[in-house]
Amino acid sequence: MSYKKIKIAIDGYSSCGKSTLAKDLAKHLNYLFVDSGSMYRAISLFTLNRNLIKNNKINKESLLKSLHNINISFKIDTKTKSPQIILNGKNVNDEIRTPKVADIVSKVAEIPEVRKKLVKEQRKIGKNGGIVMDGRDIGSIVFPDSELKLFVTADIDVRVNRRFKDLKSKNIEISKKEVKMNLVERDLRDSNRKTSPLKQTKDAILIDNTLLSRKEQLDVVLNLIKSKKLI
Ligand code: C5P
Repeated sequence: MSYKKIKIAIDGYSSCGKSTLAKDLAKHLNYLFVDSGSMYRAISLFTLNRNLIKNNKINKESLLKSLHNINISFKIDTKTKSPQIILNGKNVNDEIRTPKVADIVSKVAEIPEVRKKLVKEQRKIGKNGGIVMDGRDIGSIVFPDSELKLFVTADIDVRVNRRFKDLKSKNIEISKKEVKMNLVERDLRDSNRKTSPLKQTKDAILIDNTLLSRKEQLDVVLNLIKSKKLI
């Protein structure tokens, strides 16, 4: 096997297992894994912490003035070997997963200046290849030149169950109905926003993992990489 370090872009709907697939692929290929959604979540956490949201409305003007004060980076946890997101020097890996953040993140992600800032960071992280990044606009905007583009989807109730289990394991109190409402609303906002909406690009390969296990999903993609002789 040669050691060509390619870029792999994984896009798709909320809670469809994109990050799990990206993480598994990166581990298998010894690539960098970046969950771009965590960066939008970090800016949303900043928005909440600074009280820049009132009655569900973001104080866009103040947020834009503060954008240059938002510093996002990743640090690899030495024990778990998984990337931790650092917001202005603080590890916020768990805090960004709360329902409060999930409720506002798609609104924050609609703001073109926020996207511009994060896309720039994401391109910088991926400039040397050897990266698997997941999100909503990775194949379309961040790395349109990526060698492999995947568009992941799964049945909505399967996605709700997965997210519900995940939140329960973190002792977060939430009902399945609330989880479903959040996923449906985010998918709608993400697919219909003006700036870089979520959509399957023509060259992206569709993966429906409704009936696939984690291992089966990884094998499907590894076989794709092999059959296309990508690395
Ligand atoms: O991937 P995750 O569900 O954590 O992403 C949270 C939100 O961040 C998405 O619902 C979307 O609004 C936004 N996002 C985005 N573009 C990306 C990644 C995430 O707009 N590349």
